[in-house]
Amino acid sequence: MDVKHVEHDLTTTLLDEEQIQRRLVALAAEIERDYEGKDLLLVGVLKGAVMVMADLSRALNRHVEMDWMAVSSYGSGTTSSGVVRILKDLDTDISRRHVLIAEDIIDTGLTLSWLVANLESRGPASVSICTLLRKPDAQRMSVDVRYVGFDIPNEFVVGYGLDYNGRYRNLRSICTLAPHVYG
Ligand code: PRP
Repeated sequence: MDVKHVEHDLTTTLLDEEQIQRRLVALAAEIERDYEGKDLLLVGVLKGAVMVMADLSRALNRHVEMDWMAVSSYGSGTTSSGVVRILKDLDTDISRRHVLIAEDIIDTGLTLSWLVANLESRGPASVSICTLLRKPDAQRMSVDVRYVGFDIPNEFVVGYGLDYNGRYRNLRSICTLAPHVYG
């Protein structure tokens, strides 16, 4: 879906399709260099990371494996509490594997800090994070994010995997929502 199909729901386009793709290609090149000679397992966090996983993995000119986790954080309304429950676990045994988590966005950083600790307890060779977007609060968390696509302002964004009430994930660009949609 293009911006023009939901124009009245959106205020600004933060990142268009071309900017997103160009950045993912650059991140993929870094990842290729850093993991040269090592096996690599990409772990996507459902559902938001579907687009990042699809495009990042195809920008990597090497073999990778992919697996998925679904987690839910118990929060009040839009606030994360840091308490995370696994809804779908990995199918893969990650012991002695190099794991790279692919995420769409790190907001408070609570989901990712929990996830990294959880995966590290399984004895992997390494666990790193690649996120397309990072909000300011996440930079204050101790979680170390190795690859960041874009640092964005603290605004509610949709598109490219990010939803509002289940919608807008299939929007090609990343945009801010008009207040009348969530007001
Ligand atoms: C989003 C995003 C991250 C998490 C980040 O997922 O994909 O997993 O929130 O937030 P945090 O840094 O504050 O913990 P969400 O819970 O919206 O689920 P979804 O991916 O299924 O949309």
